[in-house]
Amino acid sequence: MLTQDELKQQVAQAALDYVLPQLQPDSILGVGTGSTVDRFIDLLAAHRQAFHAAVSSSERSTQRLQAAGIRVLDLNDITATALYVDGADEIDHQLNMIKGGGGALTREKIVSSVADRFVCIVDASKLVDQLGGFPLPIEVVPLAREAVAREIRQLGGQPVLRAGFTTDNGNQILDVSGLRYGDPAAFEAMLNNIPGVVCCGLFAISGAHVALVAGQDGVSRLELQDD
Ligand code: 5RP
Repeated sequence: MLTQDELKQQVAQAALDYVLPQLQPDSILGVGTGSTVDRFIDLLAAHRQAFHAAVSSSERSTQRLQAAGIRVLDLNDITATALYVDGADEIDHQLNMIKGGGGALTREKIVSSVADRFVCIVDASKLVDQLGGFPLPIEVVPLAREAVAREIRQLGGQPVLRAGFTTDNGNQILDVSGLRYGDPAAFEAMLNNIPGVVCCGLFAISGAHVALVAGQDGVSRLELQDD
C-alpha cells in the first residue's frame, strides 16, 4: 500500500514525463504551489536546460525554483505559457477544483489564467464525485473580513479565519465549510461578486484541462476534450 507521500512523488514524476516532451528552449512553464508541486520542482531541476524559465504562483515556489537553478520570470514580463502545473485540494470528474489549502489561490488563478493548459496533479484521495468536502478557501481584504463572512453565512457556509496566516498579497483567508455547489462555475461567479473577496478557491469557470491522478494501481489521466 503506497502512502500519500509516495503517491505525490509518483504523480510528480508523471507530470514531468507529461511536460518534458512539450518543452522547447524558449518555453516558459507555469508552476503552482504545494507539497506535490514541491516534488515536481525537485524533479524539474535536472531538466532546467530544457526550457527557458518558469512563472511562479507563490513566494514559496519561487524560492524553491530558484534554489533549483530555474530562472523565474515576473508574470508582467510574459504574455502566455503553454502549460501550468499545479496540485489541488479536490478535483471532480469535470475537472473543477477546490484549491488554496496552501493559501496561494489568488496567484494560482492568475498564473494559470495565462496558460493554454492547466495540468492538475493529485493523489487519488483528491478525486471526488462532488466538490465540497474540503473547506473552500476565500482570500479577503482584511478590512472586509467580517462583511464577507456575513455574506457567506447567508449562503449557508461556516467561515473560519485561517489564524496567523497572511497571503503573499497581504490578505487573509476564510476557510468555509458547509457550502453546496450545484453549479460550481455559477457559484464561483457569485462569490467573486462579493465586495472584499479577492479570490475564491473554486476553479470552475476555468478548471483543469488534464488531471494526472496517482492511485494504488498507477497514474491515470483524465482529460476534457478541447472546445
Ligand atoms: C495551494 C494549493 C495546492 O495546490 C493544494 O493545497 C494542494 O496541495 P498539496 O499538493 O500540498 O496537497 O492550492 O494553494
